[in-house]
Amino acid sequence: MSIQTEMNNLIVSGEFDRETLQRANAALHNLKMTRGYRSVNIDMRNVTKGFAAELLPFAARCRDLLLAGVDTMLELPTDSLLSRLFINSNWAHLIDPRQYEPSNYTSGKHIPAVSYDNADTHFQAVNQVVDKLLSSLEGFSRDQLAALEWAVNEITDNVLNHASSPQGGVVQLTTKSKSNIVEFVVCDTGVGIPKTLRDTHTSLNSDVVALQQAIQEGVTRNRATNMGNGLYGSFRLAKLSEGYFSIYSGYALLSYTQRRGLHVTQPAIPFSGTAIVCGISTANPDILAEALSFRGEKYTPGYSYVDKLTDQDGAVIILKDESKSFGSRDVAKPVRIKIENLLAASPKQIEIKLDQVSLISSSFADEVFGKLFAQLGPIMFMNRVKISGGNTVVRQLIDRAITQRLAFGVSN
Ligand SMILES: Nc1ncnc2c1ncn2[C@@H]1O[C@H](COP(=O)(O)OP(=O)(O)OP(=O)(O)O)[C@@H](O)[C@H]1O
Ligand SMILES: [Mg+2]
Repeated sequence: MSIQTEMNNLIVSGEFDRETLQRANAALHNLKMTRGYRSVNIDMRNVTKGFAAELLPFAARCRDLLLAGVDTMLELPTDSLLSRLFINSNWAHLIDPRQYEPSNYTSGKHIPAVSYDNADTHFQAVNQVVDKLLSSLEGFSRDQLAALEWAVNEITDNVLNHASSPQGGVVQLTTKSKSNIVEFVVCDTGVGIPKTLRDTHTSLNSDVVALQQAIQEGVTRNRATNMGNGLYGSFRLAKLSEGYFSIYSGYALLSYTQRRGLHVTQPAIPFSGTAIVCGISTANPDILAEALSFRGEKYTPGYSYVDKLTDQDGAVIILKDESKSFGSRDVAKPVRIKIENLLAASPKQIEIKLDQVSLISSSFADEVFGKLFAQLGPIMFMNRVKISGGNTVVRQLIDRAITQRLAFGVSN
């Protein structure tokens, strides 16, 4: 890894790791504050590797500069995969919105970084994250999904509650199926955790101690209005599920991995704001709902996204909104997983509306409808799944997929 500055150019090469993040942020600060540049060119052409944990906080910092009147321009990595990741994940747009459009990329497993700055956009951002979880985690119960949703909601909500950051926060979800990890990264460029906690806990004289305290049960800056559960519960979910967790805020870096345990250190370069990485393992989903417990009592979140999708008649899935294309098994699988999770979450019926879907492939029809039929069996399928709308061709393709499953069974 190397960081160089030449005039108003910030040139980064190699792997964009945590040290790169620190040094790149310091260099940006220096270009603006000491050298007074009003535009900075960020040259990432020779960056070889990068992940949300570091690139999202960097992008958030660039966006902050932009709002402070400093133009940030980005040169993408020459590595084509990495360059596509910069665009799809929305980092490119956050860093240089004039050159790069917001990403509308969707895949079964990822969503681009989403910004939010008020209660409405926060609600939408969390729903977008949870919707993606619903269509990517197989065999999850309502309680288990609700525990993940709870953590996403708590960490993102903290930004609006505590950070005093005019541009709000940004959240990105990555699901890593090989390692069974759901990772969300949440960043803001506000006042930072040490500052807000010190306002009421004057004994917290170092940033390191402040972060150590922040993840303890019941630690909050305002006992009258808050419980101090959010960071404690999220950390607990990450730890007990055998995932990972980190907070970088002010002059403190808290990092938990299963192998190395918990460490809180003082980095040479501070982060003005808060960047949290919460990696929760889904290998043993039973842990998730159990891990949510406060003051010795199991806690059940009062609201879940599944409730939003289900009314007294059941859930409605509008197929045209679930996928950009209806041509392959790959794009069909997340749709089926979402329907399965909704069926598991509520005993009610699910209506699948086919309106405005003009054509689906037979592999799509089989992956969603054939497999659901095979799993549920004819009686349960008829009781729980209602299919409405759509044209004759689409309905015939679905019929055929189901008839074939009837003849050949569930395998594959
Ligand atoms: N993004 C943030 N920016 C600044 N300070 C934060 C941020 N997130 C958390 N904090 C600080 O850390 C403290 C602990 O956060 P935590 O979420 O655990 O509890 P809370 O938000 O106070 O209460 P609850 O989450 O139960 O409503 C907060 O009270 C606040 O001082
Ligand atoms: Mg909180």
